[in-house]
Amino acid sequence: MIVKKSMGRAKSGLMLIMALGFFFAAYNLLSIIAQNKESSSGSWVADGLELFDPVLRMPGKVMGSSESNSKFHVALTATDAAYSQWQCRIMYYWYKKVKDMPGSDMGKFTRILHSGRADQLMEEIPTFVVDPLPEGLDRGYIVLNRPWAFVQWLEKATIEEEYILMAEPDHIFLRPLPNLAHGTKPAGYPFFYIKPAENKKIIRKFYPEEKGPVTDVDPIGNSPVIIHKSLLEEIAPTWVNISLRMKDDPQTDKAFGWVLEMYAYGVASALHNVRHILRKDFMLQPPWDLNIANKYILHYTYGCDYNLKGQLTYGKVGEWRFDKRSYLMGPPPKNISLPPPGVPESVVRLVKMVNEATANIPKWETLNRS
Ligand SMILES: *[C@@H]1O[C@H](CO)[C@@H](O)[C@H](O)[C@H]1NC(C)=O
Ligand SMILES: *[C@@H]1O[C@H](CO)[C@@H](O)[C@H](O)[C@H]1NC(C)=O
Repeated sequence: MIVKKSMGRAKSGLMLIMALGFFFAAYNLLSIIAQNKESSSGSWVADGLELFDPVLRMPGKVMGSSESNSKFHVALTATDAAYSQWQCRIMYYWYKKVKDMPGSDMGKFTRILHSGRADQLMEEIPTFVVDPLPEGLDRGYIVLNRPWAFVQWLEKATIEEEYILMAEPDHIFLRPLPNLAHGTKPAGYPFFYIKPAENKKIIRKFYPEEKGPVTDVDPIGNSPVIIHKSLLEEIAPTWVNISLRMKDDPQTDKAFGWVLEMYAYGVASALHNVRHILRKDFMLQPPWDLNIANKYILHYTYGCDYNLKGQLTYGKVGEWRFDKRSYLMGPPPKNISLPPPGVPESVVRLVKMVNEATANIPKWETLNRS
């Protein structure tokens, strides 16, 4: 599963990007990006069934979706840190479970490992090793490596599927995921905290007025997104450039903080005239979202803290808790205790799914970095 082709082309590409990093003040990148922008249409907000209901598709098509070419490759960016590894193992377990179920358009799976070297999970999870950004360029903000990882992977890997799902290690597939994109219109998840319109002054530094209104920038990050491969090939290098430029600008860095690279993806997409279908049913985020019905991906990025009466004590360590950050140095134990009665279904399901994975993944406790 180790694939590492010549890095020559990517290295020289990076030199250019670094050059930009140092000379960006004198360099108007935006002027070189495609000039001919059509007037942009608004995003399609599709919540659930309106636009695309897998159940409504012809049964034959669901079964033979390989012929329809609508499959997407599941790609998650990851590091070799123990914290990233155990999440990837759970993610891959659930991918394998739902992948071949009716309604799925899920193709193959790749963990894009941007630590620059193989780790001990190469046999367990299909993995493609890419380089991290050169020392210092990420400014200690490790997720700046994500766009650069996608650029390298798209350039060097052989990807059969026409579409890509950009996923993250803390995603769990609740059920088989259909291709939510429509032709060249990708699908993304609207994050409530990504607000381009409220950050107009900053967005305008990277998305000039002649390109269109600030509302062209979708309120999304790169993940989860299902997108046609050729579009991602266009967007990804711009996404690297915009992330580095945003990180280089103190005002932008301060305003966007840990979501900077999400904004950078939205801006890069808009610069390529790409708008996303916004799908609220793409994902749910416990403990805020309570119901799992009709949702596809469970994202366990927030800590779940409850008292024994089943009340959320967010911000305060609960008598019962599940927080991925409790396991920074190694994997969670098997058979975590279920939450007390009254805790929402989304949190109960999360713990059950983690427990099922840890019970069934061979060498859960032993195949780890020390
Ligand atoms: C990113 O920046 C480099 C260096 O200036 C430039 O050569 C390249 O065209 C840029 N890529 C995109 C997609 O804007
Ligand atoms: C999991 O833990 C519960 C107690 O919390 C115990 O009753 C059960 O037998 C355990 N299951 C396994 C498979 O170890």
